[in-house]
Amino acid sequence: MGSKPTVTVVPDPDALADTAARLIADAAADAIDARGRFMWALAGGETPRATYAKLALPPWSERVDWRRTWVFFGDERAVPPDHPDSNYQMAHVTLLSKVPIPAAQVLRVRGEASDLEVGAAEYARALTDLFGTRRGELPRFDLVLLGMGVDGHTASLFPGSPVVREVFRMVAAVHVAAASIPQRLTLTLPVFNAAARVVFLVAGAEKAKAVKAVLGEHTTLPAAMVRPDNGELVWLLDRAAAAQLAASGRGL
Ligand code: 6PG
Repeated sequence: MGSKPTVTVVPDPDALADTAARLIADAAADAIDARGRFMWALAGGETPRATYAKLALPPWSERVDWRRTWVFFGDERAVPPDHPDSNYQMAHVTLLSKVPIPAAQVLRVRGEASDLEVGAAEYARALTDLFGTRRGELPRFDLVLLGMGVDGHTASLFPGSPVVREVFRMVAAVHVAAASIPQRLTLTLPVFNAAARVVFLVAGAEKAKAVKAVLGEHTTLPAAMVRPDNGELVWLLDRAAAAQLAASGRGL
């Protein structure tokens, strides 16, 4: 059983982005102080856009030592890197092209791979190489940022998909019929649950029901299965997304 979440509720999406940018800058500083580098997996989707935009500007951009930062992606859609639906493209435009991170330290998932299984295996190899892990050992990200869909999916781990039960592979190709881009590549639960810190960023009233379900006691929704074994779990919500949670001491 992994760690219990810390739930933080802020007034609105702008406060969510500010709080997340601070948290990322702090995580970077802590990791670089402790281990000399910051290994960060980015979230896809739209919610983190405002956070990335804030991180690209002072004061946050100056607080992160980009030369000691390595950026990975929790998931990617099967599109080329310049496609408007590419998670890499969003992060590149809003953040990565604006800060002095060395290009070789941005590890994008090859959504354009003609064989996504090969793309998944290549990404797993890149993780092993860059983390310097041994066979069978999982990488330990300093920070994994995740979002959640209204159905309780996170990264490209969708309810009912067999990949949610994956125990061996670190990266998997998935087909999600219900998603706007059905073909995807995703990191798996063992990788998320080996992280030192996982932060969910969730905003908007349409997510309130899923937030309540995931933070409730009895659910097997994929987002609820992210419980780092030996790490910190934070749910950062705006008030609208937290609307169906009991008021009991949660929030700022
Ligand atoms: C993706 C994701 C996905 C996303 C959620 C929330 O590539 O689609 O990584 O898990 O985080 O669907 O997306 P929004 O922030 O756009 O609501």
